[in-house]
Amino acid sequence: MDYGYIRLGVNVDHVATLRQARLTNYPDPVEAAMIALDAGADLITVHLREDRRHIQDDDVYVMRRLVPYLNLEMSVNEDIVKIAEGIVPDCCTLVPERREELTTEGGLDVVGNFERIKEVIDRLFTAGVKKVSLFIEADKKQIGASQEAGATAVELHTGRYADTRGKEQEKELERIKEAAYFAAELGLEVAAGHGLNYENVVPIAKIYEIEELNIGHSIVAAAVIEGMASAVWRMKSIMLASRGGEDVWNYWVRGEKISGSSDFRGVISPRVPGLRFSWDSGGIE
Ligand code: PXP
Repeated sequence: MDYGYIRLGVNVDHVATLRQARLTNYPDPVEAAMIALDAGADLITVHLREDRRHIQDDDVYVMRRLVPYLNLEMSVNEDIVKIAEGIVPDCCTLVPERREELTTEGGLDVVGNFERIKEVIDRLFTAGVKKVSLFIEADKKQIGASQEAGATAVELHTGRYADTRGKEQEKELERIKEAAYFAAELGLEVAAGHGLNYENVVPIAKIYEIEELNIGHSIVAAAVIEGMASAVWRMKSIMLASRGGEDVWNYWVRGEKISGSSDFRGVISPRVPGLRFSWDSGGIE
């Protein structure tokens, strides 16, 4: 059966979470974004939170220049709205935000905050943003209000679907399906996201009306595990080479010649634009 194309927006917030844990300049969410795009991501999503717990303003400025399609998740806080008006991302997704929450818990209450949300949508379109999406629960009232407020897209919150099991999860899935049909009939573009992972994504990805999924935490978590072997190899090969190891691949790190172990394949990732080690070219590009 052909379900048509569906876009993947990779949310790289948690690459920045790892960086902010030590206030280092690595791992770099911009570099992670470029790798994600190379690997088939259709767009990059970042959430510039009011408390700046992961993504920083600079990350967004650099991504605006390097990423072909940037989706900025943002609250309707005045300072953040002004930043978005200056950056003009390809898409802005308005999300609710509470400082004490671990992640974006629950959708935006468009019905209850209609005037402010409408004003922000107008301002973003005036600034030149092409698409404004609202992150909402799969609820017809919220979908209707989103359209009235002038949004061109909605992103359905899949958090409850991800957190439930069995009959309850099936009910949630039905709710999301109905909401997706309803929103699409109103002419809204439909995305979905939150808590999706390699196990639970299939039933959501099958919903034809959903054109895009935004997924972050599970992909970054998988990247850590799947990249562990190569990261360990790289450190071990540098350690052995620094004692004059015999089994050598000569490669260059920031202009310094270091001997490495022959089985290592990898990418050096300092926050220096364009500085990337490629095994095939035998050096830094
Ligand atoms: N979509 C929106 C609107 C979000 O706020 C988030 C979390 O920042 C995501 C998608 C991605 O959620 P997760 O990290 O659980 O995949």
